[in-house]
Amino acid sequence: MTKSIMVKTFAVMMVLLASVTQIACTASEQSIPTAVTVYKTSTCPCCDSWIKHMSEEGFQVTTEVRDNDMDRIKATNGVTDKLASCHTAKVGGYVIEGHVPASDVKRLLKEKPADVVGLTAPGMPMKSPGMQAEGLPPKGYDVIAFKKDGSTKVYTRY
Ligand code: CU
Ligand code: CU
Repeated sequence: MTKSIMVKTFAVMMVLLASVTQIACTASEQSIPTAVTVYKTSTCPCCDSWIKHMSEEGFQVTTEVRDNDMDRIKATNGVTDKLASCHTAKVGGYVIEGHVPASDVKRLLKEKPADVVGLTAPGMPMKSPGMQAEGLPPKGYDVIAFKKDGSTKVYTRY
């Protein structure tokens, strides 16, 4: 191989590599939305811990403090009293209620079920992200998927 051919080959390879990298980045950005809006009250420390958990898992979290508006926000997002927890979040068109692990949110955004409104961890499960010491695995509760037809099913059992 002459020197000029080698230089040309190298240049072509670099262009190919650059375009492959670009396609890969664009694809992953499009398939997994990471912008999360969290509605919470000002007096809830466990909400802040859950927000920290989500941020550490790569989500871009915007916080909206709505002290007098949480009941309405839950109602308009299909979160009944039975499904309710502290904070209510929105990501990729889905509702995330309470202490749902980031791994379940990622799975939901990947699977994109059309019949699901959102996921919830009703109440305040003691061994959930935001409720227990950081880094411990979720344990002893179910993450529930609630659907457009009003039905629910267990999404992940911890
Ligand atoms: Cu909480
Ligand atoms: Cu909360």
